[in-house]
Amino acid sequence: MSLKDKRIVVTGGAGFIGSHLVDRLIKEEPEKIIVVDNFFLGKHRNIEEAFRKFSALKLYYQDASHYEKMKNIFKIERPDVVFNLAVVPLLTSHELPKITCEDNISITLSVLELLKDELYDTLIHCSSSEAYGTATESIMDENHPLHPTTPYAASKAASDLLVESYSNTFDLDTAIVRPFNNYGPRQNEGSYAGVIPITIQRIMNGQKPVIHGDGLQTRDYIYVKDVVEAFVDIYNHESTRGKVMNIATGKEITILDMVTAIARELEYGGEFIFEDERPADVRRHRGDITLAQKSFGFEAKTSFDEGIKMTVEWYLETTHN
Ligand SMILES: NC(=O)c1ccc[n+]([C@@H]2O[C@H](COP(=O)([O-])OP(=O)(O)OC[C@H]3O[C@@H](n4cnc5c(N)ncnc54)[C@H](O)[C@@H]3O)[C@@H](O)[C@H]2O)c1
Repeated sequence: MSLKDKRIVVTGGAGFIGSHLVDRLIKEEPEKIIVVDNFFLGKHRNIEEAFRKFSALKLYYQDASHYEKMKNIFKIERPDVVFNLAVVPLLTSHELPKITCEDNISITLSVLELLKDELYDTLIHCSSSEAYGTATESIMDENHPLHPTTPYAASKAASDLLVESYSNTFDLDTAIVRPFNNYGPRQNEGSYAGVIPITIQRIMNGQKPVIHGDGLQTRDYIYVKDVVEAFVDIYNHESTRGKVMNIATGKEITILDMVTAIARELEYGGEFIFEDERPADVRRHRGDITLAQKSFGFEAKTSFDEGIKMTVEWYLETTHN
């Protein structure tokens, strides 16, 4: 399959991963890209460049969980495919667990109902490795049990089960992409920011970096552009349908090593502050990518050092401009 001349909806397209996906989709020469985002954490500046490059980009300032309003958009735009990335993120779920779960599940139900009602053809749904919880095996494949440790993770796991159940019951064309920890330019650095943007900003502002817990918890950090490449490949390869696919590097990095790499890049030689562990923090994460490798030759091309260098450069450039 190909995205050429297709009409594509990206929910959450003004967010971190969604905006990189929009940039990547432009190269496929679609007829139209329609971003649906309520700007909970999305930013106009994330898609400014895409607007300059691609005249057939359209933005709806809309809550994707609202079925009737989404139906009106879909009747106007008649999309072929939806990449569903809209989300209320992990750290919000510590403060607003009910809203996080309700919104994330309702967004998924909304795009599933639209698919069931034949308002488009294919759903590529974005899951998260958080759905697995802490690793019970050293490397996690897609059969690893779902033991979400936070309300956010539970909402992601529930959404995945909904996609699978609708797909089975109504014979829908779907695939689930399960990325591990993303990093790169445009990651939200404001409220609810992740550890990489927070660490970069702290050092740039002359503050000491903070590590929660002992810093020996691990993550499989993947550069965002490698992830959006996989989204396109997953759409293009029909063998991915009905499946969940890990998108990761297959390598584990401790939080301590990650903070050290950022400190090195920013030439910071000071000390690190160790604070209490975050509630329900997962201990180890490393993705098994065999399925994605076999299905479409997936490979995370960007090394951690290269990715951190490009990310830090982006923060330095955008903060000073
Ligand atoms: N960032 C990561 O490390 C990571 C890892 C694995 C999976 N994911 C998944 O990737 C996807 C994108 O995450 P991200 O990191 O880019 O987050 P993000 O917060 O940068 O982007 C999410 C976007 O969704 C929008 N949004 C939130 N609620 C909405 C709603 N009701 N209607 C429409 N838009 C809404 C936000 O405004 C934002 O632009 C999510 O599905 C997330 O679970 C992220």
